[in-house]
Amino acid sequence: MKAVLCTRLGGPRDLELADLPEPEPGPGEAVVAVKAVALNFFDTLIIAGKYQVRPALPFSPAAEFAGVVERVGGDVADVAPGDRVIGNIAYGAAREKIAVSAGRLIKMPAAMDFTRAAGVSVTYGTSLHALRDRAKLRAGETLAVLGAAGGIGLSAVEVGKALGARVIACASSDDKLAFVRARGADDVVNYAKQDLKEALRELTAGKGVDVVYDPVGGAYAEPALRAMDWGGRFLVIGFAAGGIPQLPLNIVLLKSYDVLGVHWGAWTERDPAGYRATLAQILKWCAAGTLSAHVHAVYPLERAAEALEEIAGRKAMGKVALGV
Ligand SMILES: NC(=O)c1ccc[n+]([C@@H]2O[C@H](COP(=O)([O-])OP(=O)(O)OC[C@H]3O[C@@H](n4cnc5c(N)ncnc54)[C@H](OP(=O)(O)O)[C@@H]3O)[C@@H](O)[C@H]2O)c1
Repeated sequence: MKAVLCTRLGGPRDLELADLPEPEPGPGEAVVAVKAVALNFFDTLIIAGKYQVRPALPFSPAAEFAGVVERVGGDVADVAPGDRVIGNIAYGAAREKIAVSAGRLIKMPAAMDFTRAAGVSVTYGTSLHALRDRAKLRAGETLAVLGAAGGIGLSAVEVGKALGARVIACASSDDKLAFVRARGADDVVNYAKQDLKEALRELTAGKGVDVVYDPVGGAYAEPALRAMDWGGRFLVIGFAAGGIPQLPLNIVLLKSYDVLGVHWGAWTERDPAGYRATLAQILKWCAAGTLSAHVHAVYPLERAAEALEEIAGRKAMGKVALGV
């Protein structure tokens, strides 16, 4: 079977396509014939050895996938051969077949295509966990999303709307802002042209936003923090801009803010039932048309490097996928 392999740490062009033996399911495992995988910004970091997860070489990147269960090992009751499923692992999905713990698999709706389904577990899962469990976002509150047209940003815009919030989408170009407006954002801020703090304050009549969702970090985190209302909640999602912000704790004290860390992968390991219930909710919303699960582009496994370069080059709107 074909597999995208990282045999040495580096950039997307250092990845190789290899031919590997097919996996066998161990106890509690299922072998899935992968139909599509979706890529994330962190895949560009993991292959460079710059992410918190550092797999032994060689390994396949890609954390989320959709496919068909082909075989199951002993002690597997919830999925059976022929089931169409999605799943989220730390890495290893960019290959034709994978053996995974059956507990990581969720059955997908009959009408959903594999490419869209592959890209919902990390992004929409993180956003629902962050907004519902960590920020406790309430209907009628105002949510500002940074990097709003990226994979995880778009998911936060759409989950925020599904939870009844007013969503202000913030991104670096007018094209990206038109894209998120078309997918439900109520207001937009172009932080490449506008002062982020002032724009968020203006859009809330000087009051400030209730929740900030920040997957970007760098220079945008502090102005976004300073644009929150009393009791605001700041969700630390990631650092796509590269710099890890140093936030002023005096402002956190003065405005009674909560700064909330979000670690989807670790949470799903600690709360397997919560993982499955969260993704079941996401798939239900996808089937109902509440979430777009928008795919920006699909590449074959052989062109995984180009797919990752779209993400690293800040070009992707929604998800970039690999068809298998
Ligand atoms: N906490 C968690 O559990 C969790 C889970 C999943 C992902 N994440 C993190 O979320 C972040 C975003 O992931 P993603 O897959 O959604 O990425 P993505 O689709 O590439 O989106 C990231 C966005 O960040 C902005 N950005 C600003 N500076 C950038 C730069 N130098 N390079 C690339 N993008 C830049 C871009 O928006 P503009 O051009 O509009 O600024 C881009 O759309 C990553 O840091 C990832 O590790 C965290």
